[in-house]
Amino acid sequence: MAHEHDFQALSVQRLPAIVAAAPKAELHLHIEGTLEPEMAFAIGRRNGVPLPFPDPAAMRRAYDFRDLQSFLDVYYAAAAVLLHERDFYDLAWAYLVRAKADNVVRAEIFFDPQTHTSRGVPFETVVGGLSRAVDDARARLGLSAGLIMCFLRHLSERDAFETLEQALPFRSRFVGIGLDSGERGNPPEKFRNVFARCRSLGLHTVAHAGEEGPPSSIVGALDALAAERIDHGVRCLEDRVLVDRLVRQRVPLTVCPFSNVRLRVFDRLADHNLPALLAAGLRASVNSDDPAYFGGYVGDNLRGVLSALPLGAADAYRLLRNSLESSFLEPSAVVAHVARLDEVFAAG
Ligand code: ADE
Ligand code: ZN
Repeated sequence: MAHEHDFQALSVQRLPAIVAAAPKAELHLHIEGTLEPEMAFAIGRRNGVPLPFPDPAAMRRAYDFRDLQSFLDVYYAAAAVLLHERDFYDLAWAYLVRAKADNVVRAEIFFDPQTHTSRGVPFETVVGGLSRAVDDARARLGLSAGLIMCFLRHLSERDAFETLEQALPFRSRFVGIGLDSGERGNPPEKFRNVFARCRSLGLHTVAHAGEEGPPSSIVGALDALAAERIDHGVRCLEDRVLVDRLVRQRVPLTVCPFSNVRLRVFDRLADHNLPALLAAGLRASVNSDDPAYFGGYVGDNLRGVLSALPLGAADAYRLLRNSLESSFLEPSAVVAHVARLDEVFAAG
């Protein structure tokens, strides 16, 4: 167990290396958001799907987003290059190799089946490629990964139910369901029934809420969806009663600092409310959301917040421990990873 005095002794210069070496869980990562421009061009060429940019550098230069929707427009368009099982495998494998380099020991990976089935790509193709990469990550990298199927909230609940029907033959390939896409005008309550059905199937439930949407969106995700984790959740600080509830119920918040800056939730990393979330006793972790679009993977996000914000070794430890303890891993695996985290911090 790492104690307070260990943190005092730990040199500030050593902290980035310790955090880099520490075991971590990534809990908020959209696999479509790991499509780097170079890979988008390579897969697009292979599949004969053109992209509306002359080259990867121009594509990257266009990543100047006003808000969530302006990002989603680009993100859904780029996903159009993904057609075959191999494409989904290559995408997920490339992410998992990068995650391994960041010492991610557990990745819970979102995928958006409707982004693909709406283009005529069979559900089986998507989940087949992704789950083959997940299996290979365990066998070849020693990295545990699980898939979380997200429903697009700008579509109807009926559409979500149809997607669930397509998913049922592959029930064993994913650990839970989530809710993503444009938050404004699409409250959690819209998906009450499909989430209830998923819970009855033994699926874990998470939901994006309180990213651009108000605190009431977080309340809706807890009350209407029984979400076990809130993705983002940063706007909870606007509601004291809600903060008390999130602390009391130990609800994890999967915070994505680089994303919040690129999508203009906060102007600069130095303005992010992560220190306030931790000070309030909220169970926040650091995650990368859509790293190919927002300037970095989970290690980059951690390095970024530690240098831009008033966070010390105890905060870094808390963020990493929260990530491991908020995962859907079995308790014995969490205990083992936390023991390793303690060793890394104790060794300084
Ligand atoms: N899909 C991919 N990234 C997202 C985000 N940050 N919010 C909502 N939907 C998303
Ligand atoms: Zn997200």
